[in-house]
Amino acid sequence: MQRDSIRKAFDQQAATYDEQWRQLAPLNQALHLLMGSVFSDLPADAHFLCVGAGTGAELRFLADNFPHWHFTVVEPSAAMLEVCRGHADKAGFAERCSFHRDYLESLADSADFHGASALLVSQFILQREARVGFFRDIARRLRPGGILASSDLSFDRESATYEKLLEVWFRMMRGAGDIPPGELERIRSAYGRDVAVLPPAEVEAMIESGGFQPPTPFYQAGLIRGWYAARSPQGQ
Ligand SMILES: C[S@@+](CC[C@H](N)C(=O)[O-])C[C@H]1O[C@@H](n2cnc3c(N)ncnc32)[C@H](O)[C@@H]1O
Repeated sequence: MQRDSIRKAFDQQAATYDEQWRQLAPLNQALHLLMGSVFSDLPADAHFLCVGAGTGAELRFLADNFPHWHFTVVEPSAAMLEVCRGHADKAGFAERCSFHRDYLESLADSADFHGASALLVSQFILQREARVGFFRDIARRLRPGGILASSDLSFDRESATYEKLLEVWFRMMRGAGDIPPGELERIRSAYGRDVAVLPPAEVEAMIESGGFQPPTPFYQAGLIRGWYAARSPQGQ
């Protein structure tokens, strides 16, 4: 999707996003739980970069579990960021956050962060070079050895099992709540067109080309995969 369409799409979803995901929360909870362990060796006062924070699901988890971390929260959709800021205010950790309502490249290039997350974000970047550039923009803001946790929809859509898994994935979504008629068909055709659902090996290669050591897969649930990777020594 083009950047303007992405912003617009998430601006429109912001008010209902948390409710839409509420029934699928166990998927997020497992991802966050494992991600917390990925980052548990970071310093108690770490600086953390949360890219594509949306309404702040992973931010809330990390802020709860790492009470002295400082967060830079990057989110291009103003409406998503406002919901996120509201949650941070309510939960009392907003003063540990700096909010950046834009894409990452306009954030000062400080190489200051001990860790970063980008959960369900890079999949919206359709061109390979731009997606590698997204990971590179994160890598060069990390300290040497800094760690990224990233998740995306990822599967080999040419494989014989793709349609089978997709059927289960959509059954889960249908079971999760009120989905307007036609919405699942719209989502199905968006996979591969507006959302770059690529085989895991291709996503791993892009993370590595973006300046990281070979990523370690740490999570898989249905179509969602998660990896973590340390910045490679030359990841600038
Ligand atoms: C599917 S939501 C995920 C939100 C959150 N990370 C979560 O797991 O709940 C994707 C978010 O990434 C943001 N986004 C899309 N493309 C982005 C990009 N290139 N850089 C930063 N954020 C982006 C969108 O505005 C949206 O809020």
